[in-house]
Amino acid sequence: MANKENDTINHKKKLVVLTGAGMSAESGLKTFRDTDGLWEGYNVYEVATPRGFATNPQFVLDFYNMRRKDVANAKPNAGHVGLAALENDFDVQIITQNIDDLHERAGSKNVLHLHGEIFKMRSVKNIFKTFDIRGDINLGDVAEDGSQLRPFIVWFEEPVPMIVEAAKIVSTADIFVVIGTSLQVYPAAGLVNYANRKIPKFIIDKNIPYTSSIQNLTVIEKGAGEGLYYLKNYLKNLL
Ligand code: APR
Repeated sequence: MANKENDTINHKKKLVVLTGAGMSAESGLKTFRDTDGLWEGYNVYEVATPRGFATNPQFVLDFYNMRRKDVANAKPNAGHVGLAALENDFDVQIITQNIDDLHERAGSKNVLHLHGEIFKMRSVKNIFKTFDIRGDINLGDVAEDGSQLRPFIVWFEEPVPMIVEAAKIVSTADIFVVIGTSLQVYPAAGLVNYANRKIPKFIIDKNIPYTSSIQNLTVIEKGAGEGLYYLKNYLKNLL
């Protein structure tokens, strides 16, 4: 009996999902590049680069302190919940560009954060050692190494350490799904090129982004919650 159960688990197909800000839009979190997105109200170089942080650290800390409050007040939406439920039938691996924890709170077990996590912080000197943070980070808050604490966020002009692992995961997918990303930011956007060209691929987005010839692609032009409903129906044929 135990062997049979293991067999079933081992034969689940590997479903890899790349998510972006659109995944959390229905939870009330702003995207970046839509009308009224975060980058309409803020200059990306001022709040999301090491140069911006060096110039006006308190402004940058305040920006992420606000993001942390927004995420704390948000709840997973039907899209997050739908993805978590897919774990019953698939070996699901989520790669998210989002810094929120809504996939985890919905119950997804394998979540790789490419661009950091809002509920973590690190010192300016040490990229790898993180500390949990629920409240605000302020100027003068220092880590044990004596240097200023900052959000554990990958800013523009910084390396993306998790990209190698993410590319490896995408290259081993049996099914690849992209949800709610404009695919404008690299290296994350380049992950689509690591998926085997023969496997089924899906994009769910309210406004499908431009993608250069992806083979075997099914487009679901819907919001994340509704899109998951359609995706589930397509996936029934791929079990
Ligand atoms: N459901 C699905 N998709 C949606 C929804 C929704 N309800 N609302 C908006 N979208 C889509 C938009 O059509 C767009 O394609 O989500 C996408 C959001 O794109 P961006 O704002 O560019 O967000 P993202 O692709 O995640 O940005 C990548 O840029 O500044 C950075 O580091 C930040 O991780 C982020 C990266």
